[in-house]
Amino acid sequence: MAQHVIRAVGLNKKYGTFHAVKSLDLELDEGDVFGFIGPNGAGKTTTMRMLATLLDPTSGEAYVCGHSIYQRPREIRRLVGYMPDFFGVYDDMKVIEYLEFFAATYRIAPEKRIDICERVLDLVDLMFKRDNLANTLSRGQTQRLGLARVLVHDPQVLLLDEPASGLDPRARIKIRELIKRLRDMGKTIMVSSHILPELADICNKVGIIERGELIVNERVSEVMQRIRSAAVLRISVRNDLQRAAQLIEASPMVDRVETDHDGIKATLVAGEEDYSALAKQLVDAGFALQRFQEEEMNLETAFMHLTEGVSA
Ligand SMILES: Nc1ncnc2c1ncn2[C@@H]1O[C@H](COP(=O)(O)OP(=O)(O)O)[C@@H](O)[C@H]1O
Ligand SMILES: [Mg+2]
Repeated sequence: MAQHVIRAVGLNKKYGTFHAVKSLDLELDEGDVFGFIGPNGAGKTTTMRMLATLLDPTSGEAYVCGHSIYQRPREIRRLVGYMPDFFGVYDDMKVIEYLEFFAATYRIAPEKRIDICERVLDLVDLMFKRDNLANTLSRGQTQRLGLARVLVHDPQVLLLDEPASGLDPRARIKIRELIKRLRDMGKTIMVSSHILPELADICNKVGIIERGELIVNERVSEVMQRIRSAAVLRISVRNDLQRAAQLIEASPMVDRVETDHDGIKATLVAGEEDYSALAKQLVDAGFALQRFQEEEMNLETAFMHLTEGVSA
């Protein structure tokens, strides 16, 4: 079997007594785009810094392209482009100079630098800012420059820590487009966010981390398939909600019923799609239907369901 591009086995990080990352297992393969989702403080940055060999785990192992983070950090740094959540750009440095500086630190030959830096600038749509001072860029442009910076050594693996955070919608879309472009170039990408929908449509794998635990780690296609196989209906009636709920629950096509202020939520048996008979049954029993509607399932609602009960 081909070796994983990223493999973490029981990775732990404690800051003093605080357990920031708990026994994290992860496997990413070539071309994967892994959306690493979790609220602030969940352990995303800690995990990515460990994979980038910038932070030692307390225990556990991780490999990038087969290299151990303990034994071969230098090889890993050549293979990885790590974009931190915060980075500074230097005053009095032009955009192109800023990139050349990083090209030099990656030991790219002087005669190749300009060419490589311009190509990378072109890739992130910043050629028009080539000779502007780096500290005059907008936030979105700065994020793109940050991305350019980690691309100059043409890494195979990208670890992008909340690249779209704090950006306006248009700038976010731009970052997403860029990640797609990098995906299409065959790079393996781990990209974090505290908002799921931001990443949903560009990832093929998604992980959700909460309080240091990876509580969901799946292929997007599997999640969608699993969720799609069981339709959820939202039903409201004008009268006697509890009795309607009982009637619905008794139906063989219904797996589960919950009631809340919003009415009745009925999860159908997997594969059951034709629920018109259920509507007819309710009407025949004298209920005045106010709402009878299949809940729309996008990845966001899918994950809400998946993580229900797992986290507080
Ligand atoms: N150097 C540190 N010392 C102590 N606690 C830290 C340190 N870095 C991070 N933490 C704590 O570890 C947890 C995870 O942080 P982090 O990995 O930055 O989460 P995220 O990137 O998901 O917001 C947080 O509770 C944070 O306060
Ligand atoms: Mg973070």
